[in-house]
Amino acid sequence: MTGRDIVRDDFLLRIKSKPWLSINYHPEGNSIWHIPTMISKEEKLMLSWLTEFFVTGKGQIVDLGSFLGGSTVFLAHGLSNNKSKALNDIFIHCYDTFQIVLEDKHVVNYFLPKFELDYPLGGDIYPLFKKHTNTFLEYLKVCKGKIENYYPNYDKIELLFVDVMKSPSSYNHVISHFIPKLIPGKSIMIQQDYLCHTSGPWHVILMELLDDYFELITDTSINSVLYFYTREIPQELLESCIWEKISKDKKIELLERAKEKWFLVHQKEMIENQISNFKKSLHLLKYDLN
Ligand SMILES: C[S@@+](CC[C@H](N)C(=O)[O-])C[C@H]1O[C@@H](n2cnc3c(N)ncnc32)[C@H](O)[C@@H]1O
Repeated sequence: MTGRDIVRDDFLLRIKSKPWLSINYHPEGNSIWHIPTMISKEEKLMLSWLTEFFVTGKGQIVDLGSFLGGSTVFLAHGLSNNKSKALNDIFIHCYDTFQIVLEDKHVVNYFLPKFELDYPLGGDIYPLFKKHTNTFLEYLKVCKGKIENYYPNYDKIELLFVDVMKSPSSYNHVISHFIPKLIPGKSIMIQQDYLCHTSGPWHVILMELLDDYFELITDTSINSVLYFYTREIPQELLESCIWEKISKDKKIELLERAKEKWFLVHQKEMIENQISNFKKSLHLLKYDLN
């Protein structure tokens, strides 16, 4: 083991201890706690801590699925306090359609009323995103539109927050164009939808397929799971992760395998729910009950 490995392992151990939950860590200012968001309190603390203490400037910070700016402002808050000298060309790259569609019943019927927000004109939430992130503009590069139309024009990603893989097509795009930008032995990827009852099954399946290339660091109890990128993924393997190339049987096998890795009741239930939803979507459930 080299000196560099020891430093890396010490740092990973520190992250495993979730230092963002310390009573001594309390990011505040710029109304960051008042922005309507879908992420939890622990996720906010985690994002801010990582951009303040983990990010070194070896690659970009990427916020996939910025919505109203909740994840963005915590990433930006941490970055604005980061003491590293190598951050000159480092930005938070924010991707979103910034569009709420009326068919999105969860957002329209639950989320907007909860935060006392009206359905915006034409469903356009970009003005709200700009208002919420206004004080952090110097840290942001915003890509408005479908992620499938964007190809990163930077070489490396040091911190990748994934909250946009809501369909097989966005999943395929993220694995083809964003994951290859991670830095082996350095980057962290956060799968925000992993520990959620209603998520698509691809987050869990992907992390099983790439098990030899990522080390699970920790999670935020619900939603986010943090992974350390240990070594470069061969191109052929990434290509074989394209959703349509994985057989249905393999998908179910990987979901069942992943379920065994979780020991807290609520976390296991979330994976079970994803399995059940996936089987229903394949019309397999009635088959199972026979
Ligand atoms: C759960 S929300 C993100 C929540 C946000 N991170 C927060 O802190 O509140 C998911 C976002 O992904 C965006 N999204 C979903 N599919 C997309 C796609 N194909 N391209 C771009 N954005 C997409 C949606 O517009 C939505 O704002």
